[in-house]
Amino acid sequence: MGKLDWMDVSDLSFNALLLLEKMHLDYLPKMDIPREELAVALKGNPAVEWYLRNKTAGLNSWLDAVKEENAGSAPTRERIRQAEIEVLENMNDWLVYVVNPEKYDQQSFLAWDSRELREIADFQNKRVLDLGAGTGRLTLVAAQEAAEVFAVEPVTSLREYLKKKSRDRGYSNIYVVDGLIEAIPFPGNFADIIMGGHVFGECCLQEYREMLRVVKPGGKLVLCPGNNDCDNEIHEFLVSRGFQWSSFLEPGDGEKRKYWKTVVGSSREKG
Ligand SMILES: C[S@@+](CC[C@H](N)C(=O)[O-])C[C@H]1O[C@@H](n2cnc3c(N)ncnc32)[C@H](O)[C@@H]1O
Repeated sequence: MGKLDWMDVSDLSFNALLLLEKMHLDYLPKMDIPREELAVALKGNPAVEWYLRNKTAGLNSWLDAVKEENAGSAPTRERIRQAEIEVLENMNDWLVYVVNPEKYDQQSFLAWDSRELREIADFQNKRVLDLGAGTGRLTLVAAQEAAEVFAVEPVTSLREYLKKKSRDRGYSNIYVVDGLIEAIPFPGNFADIIMGGHVFGECCLQEYREMLRVVKPGGKLVLCPGNNDCDNEIHEFLVSRGFQWSSFLEPGDGEKRKYWKTVVGSSREKG
């Protein structure tokens, strides 16, 4: 995926990195951030470096290597700011989530037709989980009919945003909780419907196993949108596990695929 431009980061303080979650930091080495720019930016921001190193111990050796490769003399203030912006631009979506969730909520691609979700899942009186709930695009559709919706979201500021949005809209059946798709914070056989939009696929098998564990026998798994419109590894994985799929339009962002599957079998042999 190319760089996103959901937010102009040119005026943003580099201290915004202090709002990132551990799961962001764990992913940092896999990002396309130019290492020299990161090293320069950290030279000007020792408190940020301290945060990265102390929030997640796994980053220490990676940061040591990044710094060693780019030892050199002290950069000017201008050079540091240039490097800061380069780093910030490479984490545009994360920064929107932690600094300004409303910006995400305003993205045109969220205006897809809610019938795309309703026609593959009957939420009436069901217990529903929304994994990676974000600003609640799927949660709020389900909550109109479901008995209860548990919106699982690992980013603190998104959880706060969604709690307020749910309250402001008068919902009393939405419960916003911390958690990850690969470690769902609920017991086995808990939910009638488990859904997620734009969240599945970093670690397909682990995520799928977690969803299978938590869904009730006879329950449903729904990924909407679950993938771009292409036959990639995520698609092959889901189809090989018996998911059905179709495509629909995300305004301004093209065709996406949605996937759904009814889970059969007892709690031991769900599949
Ligand atoms: C592109 S947004 C989608 C939000 C919402 N589902 C939607 O369709 O608008 C991805 C969301 O997944 C969350 N997320 C990222 N990694 C996650 C993980 N491992 N488990 C659960 N949620 C995750 C992000 O914080 C973000 O809110």
